[in-house]
Amino acid sequence: MNGDNNYSSIGRTDSKAEIVDSVGFYKDAQVLLESVLHELMLRIELLRRYIVLEGGRDPVEHCKGRIKSAESMMEKLSKKGLPVTAESALTKVYDAVGIRIVCQFVDDVYQMVDILKRQEDIEIIKEKDYIANPKDNGYRSYHLIVSIPVHLPDCTRKLYAEIQLRTIAMDCWAALEHELRYKKTVENPELLAEELKRCSDEMASTDLTMQTIRRMLK
Ligand code: GTP
Ligand code: MG
Repeated sequence: MNGDNNYSSIGRTDSKAEIVDSVGFYKDAQVLLESVLHELMLRIELLRRYIVLEGGRDPVEHCKGRIKSAESMMEKLSKKGLPVTAESALTKVYDAVGIRIVCQFVDDVYQMVDILKRQEDIEIIKEKDYIANPKDNGYRSYHLIVSIPVHLPDCTRKLYAEIQLRTIAMDCWAALEHELRYKKTVENPELLAEELKRCSDEMASTDLTMQTIRRMLK
C-alpha cells in the first residue's frame, strides 16, 4: 500500500514519533506541515459546529487528514526533478498536507466548497471538479488546492494543502480502486477497469437519487 493514502480521522497526535522516524531532509518541513494540518482540521471542525449552532445540518460525515510520508515526498520531488529539500517540499508540492472531507450528499460537498471559498484567510490556488467532470476511470471528487498562513515566531508563511471533498459513495469507490490499483496479480485488467467504471456510474446514479430523496424530506 503506498504511503500517500494514509489518512487518519484526527490530526496526528504522534507527531514526535513521526518526526524522529522521518528521513532527515523532511524533518523541518514536517513541523510546519503539521501546523497546516491542525489549522485546517480545527477550522473544518469549528465550521461544522457553527452550521449546527445556526440550526443547519452538519454537511460533513467525517474528515481525515494526513501529511505525506517522507518516502512519498522524496519520490515526488525526484520525479519532478526538484531538489530533495525541506524547502522544495514546502513550496513546490501542493499535497504535502492532505485533507479529505466526506459528506453524505452531493449538495453537502458543494456547500462545504462554498464555505471554504468564503474563508478570507484561505486562498484557492487550484480547483478541480471531478464530480461534474469525472476522470475517465470513474474517479469522482472535488479537489481544492489552498494556501493558508502559518504563524511562526518571527514571520508568517503561506503554505499549501490539498482538500478532497466527496460523498460516502465516491469515497467507497476511490478506496476500492486505490487498493486494486496496487494489486499486481490482476488477470484481466481491462475488464476490471470497465467494471470499476460501471460501479462508479451506478454509485453516482445512487448519489443522485439519494440527493433527490433528501430534498423531498426537507
Ligand atoms: P498529483 O497527485 O500531485 O500527481 O497531482 P494531479 O494533478 O494528478 O492531482 P489530481 O487532483 O488528479 O489527484 C490528486 C489526488 O486525488 C491523488 O493523489 C489521489 O489521492 C486522488 N486521486 C486522483 N485520481 C484518482 C483516481 O483515479 N483514483 C483514486 N483512488 N484516487 C485518485
Ligand atoms: Mg497526490
